[in-house]
Amino acid sequence: MKNPFVYGKRVSGQAFFDRAKVKSDIRNVLDGGSNVLLYGPRRYGKSSLIGEVLSEIRAGGGCCAELNMMEVASLEDFVARFARIVYRELAPVSGALNLIAGFLKRMSPSIGLDEEGKPELRVSFSSGRATVDNLREVLMLPERLCGEKRRIVIAIDEFQEVSELGLGAQFERIMRSVIEKQSHVSYVFLGSKTHMLERMFSSKSRPFYNSAQKFLLLRPPEDESAAFLVERFSSSSIKLDPCLAEKMVRLVDNVPYYLQALGSWTFNAVRGRDADEVSDSDVADGFDSMYSAERILLEDAFRSHPESQRLLMRAIAIEPTGKFDESYRERHGLKSTSTVNTALRRLIADSTIEKTAVDYRLGDPLLAYYLAEC
Ligand SMILES: Nc1ncnc2c1ncn2[C@@H]1O[C@H](COP(=O)(O)OP(=O)(O)O)[C@@H](O)[C@H]1O
Ligand SMILES: [Mg+2]
Repeated sequence: MKNPFVYGKRVSGQAFFDRAKVKSDIRNVLDGGSNVLLYGPRRYGKSSLIGEVLSEIRAGGGCCAELNMMEVASLEDFVARFARIVYRELAPVSGALNLIAGFLKRMSPSIGLDEEGKPELRVSFSSGRATVDNLREVLMLPERLCGEKRRIVIAIDEFQEVSELGLGAQFERIMRSVIEKQSHVSYVFLGSKTHMLERMFSSKSRPFYNSAQKFLLLRPPEDESAAFLVERFSSSSIKLDPCLAEKMVRLVDNVPYYLQALGSWTFNAVRGRDADEVSDSDVADGFDSMYSAERILLEDAFRSHPESQRLLMRAIAIEPTGKFDESYRERHGLKSTSTVNTALRRLIADSTIEKTAVDYRLGDPLLAYYLAEC
């Protein structure tokens, strides 16, 4: 029997739950021609949510294109991929090349075939390197190809990574000035580095100030998460007691990725004993299996931080706190207040640590478990 839980990739349809309100709010902003910033910690479901929104737009006959900055290696790669996704959506007919060549004057566009044998736009640069003029031209391409009648929504995932393209603030300035001139293109900017994106879009001195309607994606309501687990098990004719479902939600701190991962491993445990009802020990076994599967990634995530941050992460995992007074620092072997503050700022900036109303805690419940345990 097929495991009804899906994780580690974008989910849609049956595997997607809740988010109806934010989905329709985002739709409304895009339909009104404005841009959207959807941000929040990793694994809360941003990419899945936008996938659903774009599917709806496509189902209604609209045009959408997507780019993930995590896959972009360089400025040249960004320009080439951007041209490719826009071409795929707006100009997949023969004859369009001349038109595009007219728009991308400073590049040499050509048509090749992708892995499935479909035509694909390729661009090359005269000196092998992309310039800011190439960037400006390619960013204008969607508006030019849209004409008067069509509109397009372009989603750029992990948008904060544009800071790695080597253009510094110039990238933001160029993109903002192009966006302002476009009336047929709406952008969705997505990202997990919440503080970086907040600064980019909310600070008056930055080019993207007020250029998009902001949506912070939080955890789903706990009762809906629990109901989702019950429903998914029941789709495979397995009974899950609602109280046990609530316990599962608490075990993974209601983070959507881990809800599905725990569901999946627990499902395997139930199937392993050929049962039709989830027991406490299935959940315990499911948690252990999930933890073993994730452990190497957790180790890597921990090791990727410098020592001062590692010490602080461990301290917060063992004892979440709102302030780092002398006795707390002593208890956890932390150095001076200024060292702690610098580490804390960095960890909040990359969304490793979250500030709640009462204390600081690790955003990843399994990382917290790992650090408290080892
Ligand atoms: N609305 C949802 N319903 C069910 N599962 C979800 C939902 N959103 C996210 N998930 C789970 O979380 C995982 C990560 O989702 P993803 O959209 O990649 O998050 P993000 O882009 O915020 O990192 C998915 O593979 C899925 O298991
Ligand atoms: Mg994502």
